[in-house]
Amino acid sequence: MRSAIINLSFEKFEKMTPTFDPIQYKITTKANWNTVASDYHYNWADQKIGPFKSTTELVKMADIKSDDKVLDVACGTGVVSKEISQFLGPNGRLVGIDLSRNALNIARKSIAFQNCTFIEMDAENIGFNFKFDKVTCQYGLMFFPDSQKVLKSIGKILNPKGMLVVAVHGLAEEVPYFSTIMNPILEHIPDIRPIGTPTVHRFGNPKELESEVAKAGFVDVTVALHGFVYKPGTFEEYWEDYMHSTANSIRVKIESHGKDVMEKIKKDAKKNASKYEEKGKLAFPWTVLIASGFNH
Ligand SMILES: C[S@@+](CC[C@H](N)C(=O)[O-])C[C@H]1O[C@@H](n2cnc3c(N)ncnc32)[C@H](O)[C@@H]1O
Repeated sequence: MRSAIINLSFEKFEKMTPTFDPIQYKITTKANWNTVASDYHYNWADQKIGPFKSTTELVKMADIKSDDKVLDVACGTGVVSKEISQFLGPNGRLVGIDLSRNALNIARKSIAFQNCTFIEMDAENIGFNFKFDKVTCQYGLMFFPDSQKVLKSIGKILNPKGMLVVAVHGLAEEVPYFSTIMNPILEHIPDIRPIGTPTVHRFGNPKELESEVAKAGFVDVTVALHGFVYKPGTFEEYWEDYMHSTANSIRVKIESHGKDVMEKIKKDAKKNASKYEEKGKLAFPWTVLIASGFNH
């Protein structure tokens, strides 16, 4: 069979490819995190394994005082909030916001600290009529389509000299857990995501992260790099877990391309994974960037 030739200019072709819709993206994000919240919490975040070793580093960097008022943006199931709560006293306050109701319910149940509240709120529409001393955000910034809007609104609800601490994943080659399977998916199904969809590596370049935070008005911005290791088990265990958690929001679309495509993706991913394999088990390096900055 002859392969089809697209007889269009690149510009026209590009117009045909679905472009990123931030509203639809947020609806999908919310639904996805409602589905995966429990797995995410109990298999990863709460155990502080692999990249979640950053929770301790991020909170250390935030230097929480016992009477601090702290906002945890995109708090998810509350792992960062829980760590923060260990440092707060009776005059301290903690608020966590997230899009996912199921994640927030897990956070509420897992934290014993009295002065904390978890609210369903979009980070792009933060609204409080009081101010905070510290704002934390772990593995959330890359999911905000208008990240500058979020950072600028954080500046408005921080006290003067208040501190922001943000953790994000490194670039694709520095976090092969994602790229080992995601690259073959993109190769075999290039339109799996609309053009312009934010990726988990969006702020993985330290210079770009620094300038993103500084651009929003924060001063004395620093970025620290951390290297962690994540051991997902055998390739089969990694594949199953990835497809049902990390790739949950795109799995149905991948499956709709049929068994052959799925098998090709798996074969390529297995080849990519082999360089991280020893005695049948995988060990992925994982770079995490933690940025801090101050309100002026
Ligand atoms: C990778 S999880 C990180 C959760 C938590 N900070 C942690 O370290 O475990 C990303 C979280 O961002 C949340 N999120 C994504 N977009 C958001 C938005 N626009 N506003 C608030 N939360 C959002 C998701 O619901 C999810 O809980």
